[in-house]
Amino acid sequence: MIIDETPALQVENLRVYYWTSRGPVKAVDDVSFTIQRNERFGFIGESGCGKTTTIMAILRLIKKPGKIESGRILLNGQDIVAINKEEMRQTRWNKISLIPQGAMNSLNPIMRVRDQLADVIITHKGDIPSATLRGDINALLDMVELPAKVADMYPHELSGGMKQRVCIAMATALEPELIIADEPTSALDVVVQKAVMQTLIGVQERLGASMILIGHDMGLTAQVLDRVGVMYAGKLVEVASISELYHKPQHPYTQALIASLPSVREKKRGGGIPGLPPFLLNPPSGCRFHPRCPHAFEACKTITPELREVQPYHLAACHLYDQEPADWNKAHANTSI
Ligand SMILES: Nc1ncnc2c1ncn2[C@@H]1O[C@H](COP(=O)(O)OP(=O)(O)O)[C@@H](O)[C@H]1O
Ligand code: SF4
Ligand SMILES: [Mg+2]
Repeated sequence: MIIDETPALQVENLRVYYWTSRGPVKAVDDVSFTIQRNERFGFIGESGCGKTTTIMAILRLIKKPGKIESGRILLNGQDIVAINKEEMRQTRWNKISLIPQGAMNSLNPIMRVRDQLADVIITHKGDIPSATLRGDINALLDMVELPAKVADMYPHELSGGMKQRVCIAMATALEPELIIADEPTSALDVVVQKAVMQTLIGVQERLGASMILIGHDMGLTAQVLDRVGVMYAGKLVEVASISELYHKPQHPYTQALIASLPSVREKKRGGGIPGLPPFLLNPPSGCRFHPRCPHAFEACKTITPELREVQPYHLAACHLYDQEPADWNKAHANTSI
């Protein structure tokens, strides 16, 4: 038996800039990561650090003034930055699909759910017999745990959770290999968030798809992810399994992020990380976190740290883990890591 071990997705040295009148906003700056088949990978990081831009680049949906400046995005080994617009249109929905931020507000208010689902199916599969189409729509609604009668309803007749389930059904109608979800539960109340997340995971597992999830609630996403990438100021600064990341964060930014989370056990309220993320028109030199980092030392101001393995299967971009003795001495002179 031949086992195909090509990763589901390989992003290599991706750069995406927004060209403003004041110069380029370096929203994604030399980001690389790999997602395996069936894997659930998440992105976390403060607002404005480039999470949405990264996933929109993977879908080739970056709008002007944004542009993919360089890098490769290999879907099943094929570089989708290099394919033409028509090929990309075929790839979208069929192979990669998106549940966008605020998805439920993008449903057409004057179309019944049935017609919106049918639109997606017919646009990509062409005309199919109406009985087959009806069967497909019922199966989709069943998959997202909605009753068949929802097909004949309009979006305003549905609760937020139901609308979000319709969006999941639309995004997965063509059985994509990669599902991307940008804060898919952010507008919902807590109990509904959990249920919708479970539905989404159920669909991903049933399709045997890989998944990229941007979560607004780290507690909820932690329960469903395999691995996480932490973004800061347009850079990927740490990648690890979910349990390593929570229990042994290596990058000072991740440590601050985890420490800022509210803790149920210790009845601790979450606080923010001191300082603000930088403006990406003119990001700090060297390590972009250096102005906020309690462990920063001289090299951090000038040398950009590479993302590399600092523990088995655990990557971080931080000079504290440099091997040169001089750096180690300097680094550990004023740190408790
Ligand atoms: N259309 C745009 N024009 C200029 N800058 C933009 C545009 N869209 C996003 N940005 C900038 O790109 C950076 C990354 O944004 P985004 O990818 O939305 O971050 P996140 O999803 O992590 O909140 C931010 O600094 C944001 O201000
Ligand atoms: S490279 Fe330096 S400034 Fe950046 S996180 Fe590490 S110690 Fe802090
Ligand atoms: Mg976003």
